[in-house]
Amino acid sequence: MKHYIRFPRADGTHSRQAHADLPAGTFEREMSKEGFFGPAAHFHHRHAPTAWTSFSGALNPHAFDLNLLPAEGDSPWDATPFLHNGDVRMRHWKTGRAMDCLVRNQDGDELLFIHEGAGEFFCDWGHLTYRDGDYIVIPRGGMWRITPSSLTTLLLIECTEGTYTMPEKGIVGSHAIFDPGMLDVPVMDEQFRAQQTDDPWRVVVKRIGALSTIEYPFNPLDAVGWHGDLCVVRINVRDIRPLMSHRFHLPPSAHTTFVGRNFIVCTFVPRPIETDPGALKVPFYHNNDDYDEVIFYHRGEFFSRDNIKPGMVTFHPCGFTHGPHPKAFQIGAAHTRKETDEYAVMVDARFPLEVAPLPEGIENRSYVDSWKAKP
Ligand SMILES: [Fe+2]
Repeated sequence: MKHYIRFPRADGTHSRQAHADLPAGTFEREMSKEGFFGPAAHFHHRHAPTAWTSFSGALNPHAFDLNLLPAEGDSPWDATPFLHNGDVRMRHWKTGRAMDCLVRNQDGDELLFIHEGAGEFFCDWGHLTYRDGDYIVIPRGGMWRITPSSLTTLLLIECTEGTYTMPEKGIVGSHAIFDPGMLDVPVMDEQFRAQQTDDPWRVVVKRIGALSTIEYPFNPLDAVGWHGDLCVVRINVRDIRPLMSHRFHLPPSAHTTFVGRNFIVCTFVPRPIETDPGALKVPFYHNNDDYDEVIFYHRGEFFSRDNIKPGMVTFHPCGFTHGPHPKAFQIGAAHTRKETDEYAVMVDARFPLEVAPLPEGIENRSYVDSWKAKP
């Protein structure tokens, strides 16, 4: 347990608690340690902290339209990397063809997020049918392949040199957000047994980013059974039941789905917007002073962001002041929206992420200007 230099103080005109009953006409900005867990200060500004006239330099936020990437080949190792650090590597893969090899990631656990498409997933543990909205967690070293039945677009989020775990649920208990009983596992069914042929197969293994190929005169997904407490698991975003409060805008960390090494994966799913008259109804302004923030937009209308559509990614480096776009602020203030219908995957990384080289046209270079209009 950390012993922060932590004691409450206040000065000037201020609310008594965070995200509620703000002084009239002010904009709340949160400055905080440890994401949303550590000591924090809430400032009440006369102007929106994002109402800059210009913003330039390395702290620029990024928006990428990954929909514009071409299909990337028959193997996940052909996927397009877009953001990475020593703890997490994010890649985007669009494929419509059955993999002609098995793969094995020895660099870390792999989290697949199926953005679009459907098909069959085969692995050491058996077979499952995947669909859009599925998260599939593959333990490091697990062999797998997919056979899409429709064009499949997915994210691969590697927990480099680490293991995915479940978040600490604390006072809301282990069945909150999703009951672990909702985790599906592959099964050794007829389709799994049917692919256990003596045709030659390759296994392409990634270790320290380099590929090795192992050839077999048979399909090595040939187990007849298994036991233990390590396996591929699947949960669909439709089965996530988010925490919410009608009186308090919960921070993004309340929506944590998986915990990696020095990063978390959160899922935003549809929920009612806060109804209490004094409660903030839009995300609060903040710098996220310790974490880099990545959001992949999956489905729905992203009311707190202008000009963002499914298949896009935004990246806000730690220290980049952000909050709702002006239009969202007006919608929230007028309380014209009663609920959000958005689905999104957020990755918050404790250490700086690097942007991988991407083809020209993928990045919206004027994204930083999207906050300019006066709320
Ligand atoms: Fe944020």
